[in-house]
Amino acid sequence: MRIAVAGGTGTVGRHVVERARARGHHVDVLSRSGGVDLATERPLDLNGVDTIIDVTSIETASAVKSKAFFSAVTRKLLSAGQSAGVEHHVLLSIAGIDEAPYGYYSGKLEQERLVTNGSLPWTILRATQFHEFSGQIFTRMKVGPVAMVPFMQSQPVAAVEVADRLVDLAEAGPSRRVPDLAGPRVERMAQLSRRWAAATGEKGKVLEVPLPGGLGQAMRDGTLLARPGSELGTQSFDEWLAHTVQKPT
Ligand SMILES: NC(=O)c1ccc[n+]([C@@H]2O[C@H](COP(=O)([O-])OP(=O)(O)OC[C@H]3O[C@@H](n4cnc5c(N)ncnc54)[C@H](OP(=O)(O)O)[C@@H]3O)[C@@H](O)[C@H]2O)c1
Repeated sequence: MRIAVAGGTGTVGRHVVERARARGHHVDVLSRSGGVDLATERPLDLNGVDTIIDVTSIETASAVKSKAFFSAVTRKLLSAGQSAGVEHHVLLSIAGIDEAPYGYYSGKLEQERLVTNGSLPWTILRATQFHEFSGQIFTRMKVGPVAMVPFMQSQPVAAVEVADRLVDLAEAGPSRRVPDLAGPRVERMAQLSRRWAAATGEKGKVLEVPLPGGLGQAMRDGTLLARPGSELGTQSFDEWLAHTVQKPT
């Protein structure tokens, strides 16, 4: 099968590319670093592609920016896909986003809406945070010697297991909304960030901070965790740390 991986250089995208190639698929990587900016008006040629896997992202908390990015990218992929006769659009989304008020999630909901109402047969997989999120949030929230990490219950999953599932879904054909994928254990994000910092040698103290408002509530009360009927990955956070993260020398 020929698969176009939009965002194929990202945290999960690079695993999608590697897994799809290992299974014998022909893979086209669509990303700005590969010369394809999907958020512009420039035409996109998907001739010969059977399936799109969309794992693009933007780093923003703004609903306006998130909606603008995800709708521009999704519209372009769907319209180029329709012109080229693409048979299947696979989208990765996030568990619990319809119940957690957050600007970035507004864009993801708009992206899901465009795909479900769009012109291509589709599959949507929602996943919980990746193990990598612990380090990303530590880095983003660090001011001076302190990283203020939200009080957040999370059930982190290995990005490589999400990638494998996305390739399974590409091979299975259009399945609409499939069970969410979560990690094997519920953890507190601040503790994960502390373990990540200790393993990588990153300096700084983690301070757990309860966020105000509906998003803070959703982070604390389990809204972002696996729902009944979700599938669970197997690699725990500590196993991921041991296998993936370089110890300081
Ligand atoms: N991170 C998590 O914990 C998590 C959990 C569940 C679901 N998700 C979802 O999974 C998806 C991927 O997340 P991620 O963390 O792997 O993202 P990421 O590491 O930030 O990667 C984003 C990818 O999108 C590409 N990209 C960004 N802007 C682009 C543009 N204008 N045109 C073309 N490509 C563009 C980037 O490549 P270039 O920079 O080279 O363009 C990169 O390959 C997202 O939709 C996210 O909502 C994430």
